[in-house]
Amino acid sequence: MKSLVFIAAFALVATAGYAQQRTLTTNGGVPVGNNQNSKTAGESGSVLLEDIHLIEKIAAFDRERIPERVVHARGVAAHGEFESYSNFASLTKAAFLGQKGKKTPVFLRFSTVIHPSGSPETARDPRGFAVKFYTEEGNYDIVGNNLPVFFIRDAIKFPDMVHSLKPSPITNKQDGNRFFDFFSHVPEATQMLTFLFSDHGIPKNYRETNGFGVHAFKWVNAQGEVRYVKYKWTSQQGEKNLTADEAKKIQGEDWQHATNDLYQSIYKGNYPAWELSVQIIKPEELDKFEFNPLDATKTWPEDLVPSVKIGKMILNRMPDNFFEETEQSAFAPGNLVPGIEASEDRLLQGRLFSYFDTQRYRMGSNFQQLPINRPKVAVNTYNQDGALTNRGAKGDVNYQPSVTGDSYKDNPSYEYARTPLKGTTLQRAITKTLNFKQAGDLYRSFTEKEKASLIRNLSGELAGVKNKGVQRKMVGYFYKADKDYGTRLSKALGIDAVEIERLIQDLALAD
Ligand code: HEM
Repeated sequence: MKSLVFIAAFALVATAGYAQQRTLTTNGGVPVGNNQNSKTAGESGSVLLEDIHLIEKIAAFDRERIPERVVHARGVAAHGEFESYSNFASLTKAAFLGQKGKKTPVFLRFSTVIHPSGSPETARDPRGFAVKFYTEEGNYDIVGNNLPVFFIRDAIKFPDMVHSLKPSPITNKQDGNRFFDFFSHVPEATQMLTFLFSDHGIPKNYRETNGFGVHAFKWVNAQGEVRYVKYKWTSQQGEKNLTADEAKKIQGEDWQHATNDLYQSIYKGNYPAWELSVQIIKPEELDKFEFNPLDATKTWPEDLVPSVKIGKMILNRMPDNFFEETEQSAFAPGNLVPGIEASEDRLLQGRLFSYFDTQRYRMGSNFQQLPINRPKVAVNTYNQDGALTNRGAKGDVNYQPSVTGDSYKDNPSYEYARTPLKGTTLQRAITKTLNFKQAGDLYRSFTEKEKASLIRNLSGELAGVKNKGVQRKMVGYFYKADKDYGTRLSKALGIDAVEIERLIQDLALAD
């Protein structure tokens, strides 16, 4: 009897506790009495400012948005795991690659580049492929794309390029007149434009997409020896792309098809996987190529620099909250761990600054403390305070050095690798530009079906360019890449033979 009374009493308390837990509260945790009717001065009077819950609710709503990413605004992300295939300590001291079978949690965000966060996922646009490794030595990010090269090779051109690709400041519409005007001054974009206007420019979804680090990075071992590496993520689902017609059809039915595909696959337990490989060059080999290996508009051809497989990544969990994880995630090429450093690539060097800078603006100075960005290791820093800090810092010594012996120590074994220097400062383009050769190789590697798609997509866009000088110059670049490529484009655009001859003569001088 006694125990029955006890059980009944316990059940009552538990139910009351549960009821309390399920009661709507204010941000301060205070129970809310009425969430449907504002407090008014009598039945027909005005709403009272003293309705704290109402004012807080509307004020919170007014502040729901943060600035979207200036590029790569539309994205979808998933959690997963990376497993190292071996101990790569002879090449890099990065701990997450230091043991066969070592597993590291990852977060991967896929994205489109140009259009806003609510735009369709069928756009002809590169796809972002950004991976955050939560390693035991802090966070390491490979912030790559689905295409192996980029449009430009110097960060100083990036804002202009993005302005030309973004919607017009007058019409708010993307306009080929604007971006081809820009690209007619950028012959090094020829290979990237060839990728973009081929069917590679519209991936079928994110699972069946490869990823590339694009830049060279430095791997440094414990002896301080440096190698240059380029990364590739190979989709274990294969690579699949859409023709322009297929994309049009899908967009009409489901304009967020790639997001749906990722959520549905992972919810069903159909976990996508990628193999990571690297191409490796020794510093003394950098000059032996006809192109500059630190130029992001170039690939390192496999026959010259074969790939080595280093690990596998599997995605197995979707975020519980889109905003807190996907939207607030902050990837940066400057998130590097001991054993991995930036190369001298001029595009990458600008990115090292840009991402941290934009993230301080987008989310505030303490964005690295948000759970999705927080490393899974202790953060022992004397950077402190600022808006919304939550580090839980303790102790009186918040500086270094200190006689107390309480301060954190820096450790010379983690110093950056040493780079020999020569020459003077200058502002000059690189010497080995080789703007067209790889674009030609790429065109010739396409099947006839792929070539036909490319010619159709590219001529379709170029046909709308009103400035014939810009249009002809673009055709000239593709002609320089490959004669058949340029000739087919010219025919599709109705450019006559005499004009092509003139174009070729003009181009003979240009590179
Ligand atoms: C100088 C050249 C570049 C600059 C200045 C630049 C700048 C930016 C900025 C400001 C963001 C927004 C970041 C944020 O708000 O969190 C961003 C996102 C991104 N960029 Fe770049 N970018 C450059 C080149 C590249 C290249 C070459 C790649 C690929 C290899 C790339 C891949 C990405 C990706 C994947 C994202 C989205 C990351 C995410 O999912 O949050 N960017 N970029």
